[in-house]
Amino acid sequence: MEIVIATRNEGKLQEIKELIKGLQVEVLSLKDIPEVPVVREGGSSFRENALMKAEVIASFTKKVSIADDSGLAVDFLKGEPGVYSARFAGEDANDGENNKELLRRLEGVPISKRGATFRCVIAVVTPEGKKDIAEGECRGIIQFEEKGEFGFGYDPLFFVPEYRRTFAELSPEIKNKISHRAKAMEKLRVVLKEYLKTEKTSVEKG
Ligand code: IMP
Repeated sequence: MEIVIATRNEGKLQEIKELIKGLQVEVLSLKDIPEVPVVREGGSSFRENALMKAEVIASFTKKVSIADDSGLAVDFLKGEPGVYSARFAGEDANDGENNKELLRRLEGVPISKRGATFRCVIAVVTPEGKKDIAEGECRGIIQFEEKGEFGFGYDPLFFVPEYRRTFAELSPEIKNKISHRAKAMEKLRVVLKEYLKTEKTSVEKG
């Protein structure tokens, strides 16, 4: 079975490939299909955005398509930045500017109220329109200053109590075991295994 990962991000692609290793699937990405339309993330939830991307790519490529959306939901900010995580400080904001904006919005907020959740939603859509969702979460606390050099996005501010480190202080190997994306991907693997079983059965039935 061929599947398309709806990303042009090499890091994400490698992460997904690593996770679905061992399954009998051939992985393509948007880099292999340059003519696919660009899908804007205009939805009001991670789920909506992930489904929308996967649906567009599945109907365009006529192959099983996978898309994800993720971000940070801060308790004190009632779930913000949420789907706006990548552009919290403005449309073209970079990671540093977004982190600064988050610290500004949490100025004077004590540690006991700085809880936050990283969320990741992965949608799988078949060309026939069958849809599945895999979700993962990771809880942490937003620090008062950035710490660590690894990772991207809000990693330097996201402190994981079990490890007493921010995501940016943890090696990629550890982050990739405990992160919201890793947890969603574990569930995705189960979904894909089911797809492969169904495909095998229908081929056998002829
Ligand atoms: P997307 O899922 O690639 O659209 O990511 C949305 C935004 O959420 C990113 O630009 C980051 O700001 C934030 N984000 C998502 N996952 C992570 C993570 O694992 N670490 C840090 N920031 C993240």
